[in-house]
Amino acid sequence: MTPAARAQAAITILDQILAGDPAEAALLRWSRASRFAGSGDRAAIRDLVFDSLRRRRSRAALGGALTGRGLILGMCREDGADPVSIFSGIGHAPAALDDAELAQARAPSEAEAFDLPDWVIPLWRESLGNDAAAIAAAMRDRAPVWLRANALRATPQQAIEALAQDGIAAEASPDLPTALLVMQGGRRLSASRAYLEGLVELQDLSPQLACAALPQARKVLDYCAGGGGKSLAIAAQGGVEVTAHDANPARMSDLPRRAERAGARIRLARPGQLRGSFDLVVTDVPCSGSGTWRRTPDAKWRLDPKGLDGLTELQARILDEASHLVAPGGHLAYMTCSVLDAENMRQINGFLNRSDFCLVSHRLFTPLDASDGFFLAILRRN
Ligand SMILES: C[S@@+](CC[C@H](N)C(=O)[O-])C[C@H]1O[C@@H](n2cnc3c(N)ncnc32)[C@H](O)[C@@H]1O
Repeated sequence: MTPAARAQAAITILDQILAGDPAEAALLRWSRASRFAGSGDRAAIRDLVFDSLRRRRSRAALGGALTGRGLILGMCREDGADPVSIFSGIGHAPAALDDAELAQARAPSEAEAFDLPDWVIPLWRESLGNDAAAIAAAMRDRAPVWLRANALRATPQQAIEALAQDGIAAEASPDLPTALLVMQGGRRLSASRAYLEGLVELQDLSPQLACAALPQARKVLDYCAGGGGKSLAIAAQGGVEVTAHDANPARMSDLPRRAERAGARIRLARPGQLRGSFDLVVTDVPCSGSGTWRRTPDAKWRLDPKGLDGLTELQARILDEASHLVAPGGHLAYMTCSVLDAENMRQINGFLNRSDFCLVSHRLFTPLDASDGFFLAILRRN
């Protein structure tokens, strides 16, 4: 496909997303209907779509409209490219620009340049203070790919060498040797030996740092285990019995296969099956995902104040439920992939006021000092 034909495909998909379709579903539907497209075309179109969603407000201003055409036109203007080379109307290219489109270029306002919904901006500023603009800017760019070298299968160096054999260049973080930043070849990962044999797992640096900061414990419960990313990271620390639980057990359906690949032993518990107490209970709660909006940029435009209120109520409920499973003197770890205070420290302060737990430590990881936005609070039961 030519660059212009890829742009037209992105316009079609963006229009479907703007009409309410989830981004992944719209991309998948286009792929299934477009067998002629090669893997390079699909990857390039996916990048165009996700880049446009990350910068939706500023590009709509530059392109003069919140439509697929407006966003791609805004991209051309942002990049300083001549839009006529894309909007040529020739073959499968987008139709030529009309006079109104040619006249509608406008620099984004200060709020539009944040590329966040208006109602989020005050919360973002309150939560992040002087770093608000820099962290919003980081969310406008593509996220790096981080891997966790799985200590149950390999040392970080062995993992790096195995990745290199499949053409993937990675280097260890100075902050955590098991966290490997992919420098090149990330798209080959899912077919690589290192991945298929469990030497590495996909996991961002920030949750890896959070798992590494957890207190030592023998009996650990991952109360909101989902796909099991935290369970696997904790099990890889060794000398620990991990139980994974989720209110929706179907979310854990891949975990036995992932654990086998990683050489980890993880016990699964369905709701109602948890017995006794644990030295450490981890609650990686459902959240707005505001710290990972560069990975799931359509989520940033779907969240509304009512949705955020619903999430904070659920988070408080989960803290209360999980706290009863912590042994006396044991720890409760609260995690979100959000940077919003309402989901982080404000949530923890509310819990401290109604429980017999005390705060041991807390940290907000951001792209300025780690990778994705991620919050960890560690609490101890008195
Ligand atoms: C952020 S996801 C967890 C991601 C997972 N820990 C990982 O690393 O891949 C939150 C999970 O909480 C689960 N959940 C929601 N309400 C819950 C509840 N009341 N009790 C336990 N789990 C709950 C959801 O089903 C979802 O899988």
